[in-house]
Amino acid sequence: MSKIRLSTLKQYKAEGKKFVALTSYDASFAQISDEAGIEVLLVGDSLGNVIQGHDSTVPVTIDQMMYHVSAVARGNSSAMIMADMPYMTYTSETAALENATQLMQAGAHIVKLEGGAWLTPIIKRLTECGIPVCGHIGLLPQSVDKLGGYKVQGTDPLGADTLRQDALALQEAGVDLMVMECIPAHLASEITTELGIPTIGIGAGSGTDAQVMVLHDILGLKTRPTPKFVKNFLSEAGSIESAISAYAEAVRNSQFPAAEHCYN
Ligand code: KIV
Repeated sequence: MSKIRLSTLKQYKAEGKKFVALTSYDASFAQISDEAGIEVLLVGDSLGNVIQGHDSTVPVTIDQMMYHVSAVARGNSSAMIMADMPYMTYTSETAALENATQLMQAGAHIVKLEGGAWLTPIIKRLTECGIPVCGHIGLLPQSVDKLGGYKVQGTDPLGADTLRQDALALQEAGVDLMVMECIPAHLASEITTELGIPTIGIGAGSGTDAQVMVLHDILGLKTRPTPKFVKNFLSEAGSIESAISAYAEAVRNSQFPAAEHCYN
């Protein structure tokens, strides 16, 4: 398979063709997911939860992210590797540039930052320097203590409008992709239509250009409370390889997420 690049994903959006992202933390699962045709392997700081056993992503460090990014890069051949910038590693342009550089040198193709319009100067600096950036709006797991828990965002008119404005500001600043987490399905669809860049939803309905899920969730590992948007693809598939393929196919056919996985 030819390498997945930003131009590939932008072309998919233009053609109305859905693509698939999945978290990946090690070489073996990266290889299996890449072979299943997953376009984007997200080395998420969710590794703080599912690998390290913390109750949030806050303790994850840049060195730990680099370790997992380099493992995923060794298992991967075609997928785009997206790396989360961990907690407090992008509070200034200088810090963001230094830390994003480390993730790119470890094997990432794009870095992801959580936050709204306040990130504009930081994103401009990264993109000026040639580092591709993915925005992340809606539920921001790194801000869980400020948000008062893992809650759906943008449910009231003011919250929805702020998310719309944030999305436009981040696109204007230069982000190439946009993750939207835990927001009402109709809002995610509207933002997807308004933006020229591809959107990737998680708990954001089926109207986004792509979906992302945490690997452990689609394999039905219930080591932490399971959100409504999660589906266990392993129970019917019978093997890990088939479960990952079933997830990818369900996203491409718009069968996942179904109404029961969405917020209104
Ligand atoms: O860290 C992660 O896995 C993520 C997804 C929830 C989008 O950021």
